[in-house]
Amino acid sequence: MLMSAAAVEVLFHDDIMSKIYEYPPFVGPVFDQTVARFVQLVENAVFTGKRVVRVLEVGAGTGRLTALLGQALLDSKLDEKCYVDYVSTDVSMSLALESTAKSPWPTMTPMTFNLNVPIEHQNLDPASFDIIVAFDVLHATSSIHDSLTTFRDLLLPGGHLAIIELDGSSFACDAVGTICKTLCCTAFNDPL
Ligand SMILES: C[S@@+](CC[C@H](N)C(=O)[O-])C[C@H]1O[C@@H](n2cnc3c(N)ncnc32)[C@H](O)[C@@H]1O
Repeated sequence: MLMSAAAVEVLFHDDIMSKIYEYPPFVGPVFDQTVARFVQLVENAVFTGKRVVRVLEVGAGTGRLTALLGQALLDSKLDEKCYVDYVSTDVSMSLALESTAKSPWPTMTPMTFNLNVPIEHQNLDPASFDIIVAFDVLHATSSIHDSLTTFRDLLLPGGHLAIIELDGSSFACDAVGTICKTLCCTAFNDPL
């Protein structure tokens, strides 16, 4: 099912998704690992001399991942070492705004971004992000292949992609299934 901005606003308006995300399989070690790895990636970028690290979150929705990553950046005192320009996006502007409001990280920019629309018709520049993160979003897009191609086009050379997706078995065993591929964590049965 493809989602329009109006449809997701109806689905998310009563906060039911936030409540669902408080329980397994939407909590678990994969979130802790992803957060720790994310902080490490930012620290590595700073270590190599970057003073501005650009992060893009796609499909930020309720802001669950946005809040976790924002808190982790603060806890790591990364605000003292670099400027993390965190662009938090969703097809719906009101969800993008909600996600930034949930994050304690101060330098957040909410924007609309739709993975089903070519980059040239949107407000993001190709090759402009160091890290792209997305939680539970790819399944909602029209083509996993095209979405991954879009991520590649938005990343700077040597950039990193961290994705969390759930497969059918996640609900049966209360665990998030992951396949780690370099820096891409996914749980798809489809060939990528
Ligand atoms: C299942 S929710 C996951 C929400 C979110 N990551 C969170 O932490 O709450 C899927 C999200 O993907 C967004 N979405 C759906 N289709 C999209 C698309 N084509 N491009 C970008 N985001 C999309 C929805 O608006 C929704 O916020």
